[in-house]
This record gives sequence, structure tokens and C-alpha cells, in this order.
Amino acid sequence: MTNIVLCGGNGTRLWPLSRKLMPKQFIKLFDEKSLFQLTIERNDVCCSKKLIISNTEQYFLALDQIEELDNAKLKTSHNTNYYRESSTFLLEPIGKNTAPAIALACFSLNLEDVVLVSPSDHLIKDSISYEKVLLKAEKLAQEGFLVTFGIKPRYAETGFGYIEADGTDVKAFHEKPDESTAQKYLKAGNYYWNSGIFCFKAGVFLEELKKYSPEIYEMAKLAYESSKEEKDIIRINYNDMIKIPEDSIDYAVMENSKIVKVVIADFGWNDLGSFDALYEELPKDENGNTLNSDYISIDSKNNLVFCDTRKIATIDIENTIIVDTGDAILISKKGSSQKVKKVVEEIKKDT
Ligand code: GDD
Ligand code: MG
Repeated sequence: MTNIVLCGGNGTRLWPLSRKLMPKQFIKLFDEKSLFQLTIERNDVCCSKKLIISNTEQYFLALDQIEELDNAKLKTSHNTNYYRESSTFLLEPIGKNTAPAIALACFSLNLEDVVLVSPSDHLIKDSISYEKVLLKAEKLAQEGFLVTFGIKPRYAETGFGYIEADGTDVKAFHEKPDESTAQKYLKAGNYYWNSGIFCFKAGVFLEELKKYSPEIYEMAKLAYESSKEEKDIIRINYNDMIKIPEDSIDYAVMENSKIVKVVIADFGWNDLGSFDALYEELPKDENGNTLNSDYISIDSKNNLVFCDTRKIATIDIENTIIVDTGDAILISKKGSSQKVKKVVEEIKKDT
């Protein structure tokens, strides 16, 4: 399989940790590795080729992080299958969301190639279950289906798409419901979170895109045909990219297609879309505070504290998120971290 790694988003929900030039997927949150690096490593087992789709501005960041993984390999083993050698970069001058990004990637492949489309900013903890589920998905993709990976919902999240399933058949795909609809889906039992991971033949995806979003198909085709290819980098021209309508794969294809299947995935998936979600996954001390050598806790409990430029001390503070990046500080009540996007909107007004 070919792994289409989507990393062009600039996820602002982890501000001030994530910034336009340092989005969530490239931040080293776990084990000194970024979510992007963990994605590359995880998918290497089943994908011999990688097609990394990012914004031109993020190219060096992505390249550096891949080379860092290769350097670590060089030190610890005689394995000479370097990630760099199996990677091609497709660079977008501006982001047009996931449908155009995936279309551009598919145009650069053979129509019969089976691809695994993966976001680069998610956590997957159980790699053994993940590999088993991938085998099921690859088989369905070979048979000509668009395959989604459904996660049993843990609460009524409104920031995800929901897959209404009947076994492996998808009855309907519902992108981002409102709160009361999400509550209904949670109770129903046959609705699953869409993990944002997809598996299909490049040609099958392009056919479905042509059927349901013909303008994206046509404009992406033109943009790919006039792109510049040098060694292992495909550069899309700004003047072509700007003409492609903006849309996500979920709205442009998945909500409409009649050939969608779902594999139920129980592999410890987390989208890490907020500091609250991140708190759940980070290692903590006996008082429920996240571990950090620069943090001094006096009678404080259940706090998420990030600091790398100076010490932070809290006294009698509970259930609080404190993120200090040197040039900005975020202080939030736990449970309210979705509102970070409002902070980012305020900052945008000033710039
Ligand atoms: N190359 C490229 N270009 N990548 C992009 C672009 C773009 O213009 N826009 C987004 N991405 C990347 C992001 O970096 C991320 O890895 C992935 O594509 C998904 O985009 P998000 O913007 O994070 O989507 P979302 O979180 O709103 O929704 C999607 O993911 C949910 C699960 O996390 C949907 O697929 C939902 O249905 C799903 O539940
Ligand atoms: Mg996301």
C-alpha cells in the first residue's frame, strides 16, 4: 500500500503550543517524538511507499523530522530501509482541505494502487490491533470499496463525523452533527466516530470524486498535470491550486458515496483535538498532575502544566490547564479547552 500522509492542517486548538508554522502534528508531545513521526513509523509496516502532502511552508519541518527518524535508525540498527528513501513530498502552496489534497495524491499514483490515507495528528496506542484492522480494510479496498475506520463513541463529540453502520455496510455517513444529534447517535449503538483514516484504490476514489464533486476533480486534475516534479518533490502551482474548490473528503465524497464500508477499529485512537483530550493521554504523577521537571506542585491536583522556558509553581490549584511557551501563556479550566479556538480568533483580529 501507499501511505498518503495528510499534514497540511494548521490545527489551532492547542494554542499556544501549536502555531501556523508549528502545527500539532509536528510538536514533540510523547517520547520525544511528534505525532507525525509516530504516524510515519506506525504505517511503515504496511506501506512500502509514503506520499507526504503538506503545505510548502511545512516542507522542511516534515523533512527534518523524517531525517531525524532515519538518523536514530542508523545509530540503533543495521536496518537500511530509510524512511527518506520511500517518501515523496507533494507540496501545496495553499491548503484547500482534504478532498483536493487526496485527489492530487491519487492523480500521482496508478489507478489500481491501494492507498491508506492517514491524518498525521492522531494517537494510536495499540499497534497490533491496528495492523489487524488494516489487513481487513486492504481486502475491502481491493474489492473496490471506500473503507472507513469506525471508533466506538465514548461521548457525544460534535467535532467528528459519524458512520451509521449495519455490519460492515455503511447506511449513511454524517459529518459533524450538532449536540442533540450527537447524543442520539451515542445512544443508538450503531453509530461510530469516523477516525479520519481511509483506505481505497486511487482510481475508485477519483471516480467517486468525479461523480459527486466534479469541479474538485477537474481542477485538481489540471493542477496535478501542470505541477513541477523534481526528484521526489511534486510542487503544485499557486495559480492552479487557487482554482480548486475547498472541501473535505467527508463532505465532498463520503456523505454521498454508495460504496462505503466500515471496519470497526478498537486500537486506542485519540484525536488529541484539545488540551482536555491531551491530558487524558499524558503520563501523570500520583496527584494527577502531568509530569514536568520545571513544575512545582504544592497541594495541587489534576493539572496539565506545560513549560519549557521557566519554572511554574501552583499552590492549592486543581483541574487547571497552564501552558507557557515563553511568548504566551494559556490558563484554562479543565473541560473548557475547546474554547481555545476563540482565543485564536481574537489573535487573528489583531494581525
Ligand atoms: N495536505 C493537507 N492539505 N492536509 C490537510 C489540509 C489541507 O488543506 N487540511 C487538513 N489537512 C490534514 C490535517 O493536518 C489532518 O491531519 C487531516 O488532514 C484532517 O483534517 P482536520 O482539519 O483535522 O479534520 P477534522 O478534524 O475537522 O475532521 C476530520 O477528522 C475527524 C477525526 O479526527 C473528519 O474526517 C471527521 O469526520 C473525523 O471524525
Ligand atoms: Mg482533526
